[in-house]
Amino acid sequence: MATGAAALLVALIAVISWSAAAASLDTSPVPFQAGYMPLFGDDNLVRSPDGRSVRLKLDRRTGSGFVSKTAYHHGYFSASIKLPDDHTAGVVVAFYLSNADVFPGNHDEVDFELLGNRLGHEWRVQTNVYGNGSTSRGREERYLLPFDPTLRPHAYAVAWTPTAVVFYVDGAPIREVVRVPAMGGDFPSKPMSVYATIWDGSAWATDGGRYRVDYAHAPFAADFSHLVLAGCPAGGGSETRCAVEVMTAEFAVMTPAKRAAMRRFRRRHLLYTVCHDRLRYKGTVFPECDDADGSERGDFHRWGESKRVSSSRRGYSQQKQQPRADMAVDAAGGRPSTWPIGSLRAD
Ligand SMILES: *[C@@H]1O[C@H](CO)[C@@H](O)[C@H](O)[C@H]1NC(C)=O
Repeated sequence: MATGAAALLVALIAVISWSAAAASLDTSPVPFQAGYMPLFGDDNLVRSPDGRSVRLKLDRRTGSGFVSKTAYHHGYFSASIKLPDDHTAGVVVAFYLSNADVFPGNHDEVDFELLGNRLGHEWRVQTNVYGNGSTSRGREERYLLPFDPTLRPHAYAVAWTPTAVVFYVDGAPIREVVRVPAMGGDFPSKPMSVYATIWDGSAWATDGGRYRVDYAHAPFAADFSHLVLAGCPAGGGSETRCAVEVMTAEFAVMTPAKRAAMRRFRRRHLLYTVCHDRLRYKGTVFPECDDADGSERGDFHRWGESKRVSSSRRGYSQQKQQPRADMAVDAAGGRPSTWPIGSLRAD
């Protein structure tokens, strides 16, 4: 199937580039109401007066979240997010694609998870990709950010095409998962909805659950703005044509300059990658992991954590306060946490 689809796409790309008639996907932000609806924690979801931004709050009673009105089969999805400051250990803010409600046993998922931390310690960002229920083969990576995400909004975006998933932060690619045949069903391939949530991840989010949410600091509020839903609506009859548009759109094309920017980001900010973790899956390296010349491998421990990047030397904490001595201990970190697949769901 993959080969046939690929050939078809190549043919369609040729036709569309020749005709130059392809409508371009609209990557301008939409009002909340136009693309999204509340998902859970209703009165903890507060819209701005102009309807273009939404605040999601977590308090003792509940978190909150919203979901796209439409499921999409490929596209580019972005939100600018300003994260809560102060003590946010255990708090998780997520922006992700999923179809777990439609395919509970074999769902697809693409995640940005922003993991809160103790006062004076950096937020961390985690990305993940699942396909067809591959929850026992998490493609996890974790990063520090080159800025303080609590001072102003920053854009977190996912480009999902038939051949790759690219994660962006403020327009710079930070990760590219290229679909290779050996991935089989592990690459997301069914229509997904877009979600944003804030919830209590005490059990795992901060140093493997060592620091839990402290509700003395509640409510925790994350502000979402600049909502971009440039996707191919599922079941619209033009999914293939739209997928080609997605593949040829600027956000999907990895130029040498973008690859260079991605390498720079990863050298400075990548804390953990499953691609260099030799312990978690008993030495199995996922087929899409590409370090052909082995140039990266020496920078990582056998358990996938970076030897170069740690929150004691990097990150944004200097902007607000001096790094503290105990950060070095914190940076050593625990073992990578496991994604709590059930906990994103609003029940
Ligand atoms: C996806 O999962 C379903 C149900 O487990 C299975 O029947 C199907 O073959 C899988 N598809 C791929 C491409 O692996």
